[in-house]
Amino acid sequence: MDKIENVPGHVSIIMDGNGRWAKERGLERCSGHIEGVESVRACTEAAVESGVKYLSLYAFSEENWGRPREEVESLMGLMLKSVTGELSNFMQNGIRFMVLGNRARLSDGLNSVIDDCMKKTEGNAGLTLIIFLSYSGRWDILQAARKLASEIAARPELAAGLEDMDADGFGRYLVTSGIPDPDLIIRTSGEQRLSNYLLWQGAYSELFFTDTLWPDFRKPEFYSALCEYSKRDRRYGKVK
Ligand code: FPP
Repeated sequence: MDKIENVPGHVSIIMDGNGRWAKERGLERCSGHIEGVESVRACTEAAVESGVKYLSLYAFSEENWGRPREEVESLMGLMLKSVTGELSNFMQNGIRFMVLGNRARLSDGLNSVIDDCMKKTEGNAGLTLIIFLSYSGRWDILQAARKLASEIAARPELAAGLEDMDADGFGRYLVTSGIPDPDLIIRTSGEQRLSNYLLWQGAYSELFFTDTLWPDFRKPEFYSALCEYSKRDRRYGKVK
């Protein structure tokens, strides 16, 4: 693989198409999710190799809680197994691991495994791998507004500063505080929408849509997306 110019600092992926991948093969939907974990591994490796600093993955939306109970349980089980199983790999490769989202809805068991993995990897200086779990963009903006409102309720003198608060100031209340906005958002499986993902943070992200189903999205597909990104002209609403 030739060296890629202009590697995005933060790549984010809406992993879609696991169910269709399984259906095409006459398998249960959870087989698609299991195969999808291999794509997570492949893309994490490719991100490390190519020098991407942040890789974030939309693994489970707030809306996904409405899926059949068996599928939700199987996804949460997969998450627990993956986090537990990948810790040594994260340590070997200097990967910092984070989970962001409405963690109050996750089980105590999963939360404690996530906390342990986040704590053990927090000093790692290589790739930051973020899993968005029980996340939605509107939920994030709402929880930020609530946090801000409760701060002001507790200290009314802060209200005067609201006038000067800019987008970066408000961004510090989002769960992604301290994490750069995604440069590139990839969505697999032919769907072309954001589905309530990083609505605030994705304001100027480049979007890349591919028909490839998530379980088939491996290193070559990841590199193709980076190549496409390197050709994009980002103007942020300005004139160059
Ligand atoms: C979308 O496919 C995929 C998901 C909702 C789950 C993604 C989860 C994984 C890849 C496994 C665990 C991840 C980690 C980070 C360990 P879909 O089920 O919506 O597919 P469909 O649109 O074809 O039905």
